[in-house]
Amino acid sequence: MLISFEGTEGCGKSTLIRHLLKKFDAHKIAAISTREPGGSPVAEKIREIILNDEMDSLTELFLYESARAEHFEKVIAPALKAKKIILCDRFTDSTIAYQGFARGLKLSVIETLNKLATEGRSPELTFFLDLPVEEGLARATDPNKFEKAGIEFQKKVRKGFLYSIRKNKKRWRVIKVKNRSPEEIADEVFAIIIQKTKLKKKARKK
Ligand code: TMP
Repeated sequence: MLISFEGTEGCGKSTLIRHLLKKFDAHKIAAISTREPGGSPVAEKIREIILNDEMDSLTELFLYESARAEHFEKVIAPALKAKKIILCDRFTDSTIAYQGFARGLKLSVIETLNKLATEGRSPELTFFLDLPVEEGLARATDPNKFEKAGIEFQKKVRKGFLYSIRKNKKRWRVIKVKNRSPEEIADEVFAIIIQKTKLKKKARKK
């Protein structure tokens, strides 16, 4: 099962994923964590370029999709085959939000490239960690170029995520993170994933 985690900067995705992995481990459920851009050796090299260098928006989009194609082929597809739970820190919805809504590139082009890079596969579940953009930005200790782009940019990113959520309510779960401990958030998300896994198993049996 492919599960992605999305949100604006500083919303706590990485911490949540770390907590979840521990829980899966404790329950002896096979799970891996990975991230985009990155997750495989070549994709991690592309990540370095994207996050550190200024570039044309279309160039940036192609780099994200190149990294994604490589990551999907080398990491996600094999893990899906091995029936593992994959916790992916950002995925295709980030491209809609950042390159589409914030950078202003055409959504239809992004959707086509997303499909190509992932062999048409979308996550079974996507969590949106909902935190006011001002608070998330204030948490950044070593800001990347998207964090440096400021509040107005992040507001557009947020609009992009809300658009994707409206389009596909079944796949998304919105998790409020303001004033909550990482442990409490992890408990809630873990329970949702376990419930979804059980429903999937039931459906397969029928
Ligand atoms: P991270 O800081 O959550 O690891 O994500 C890296 C940055 O890349 C973050 O600022 C969001 C951005 N990003 C995009 O602009 N488009 C994408 O498709 C992805 C996956 C990330």
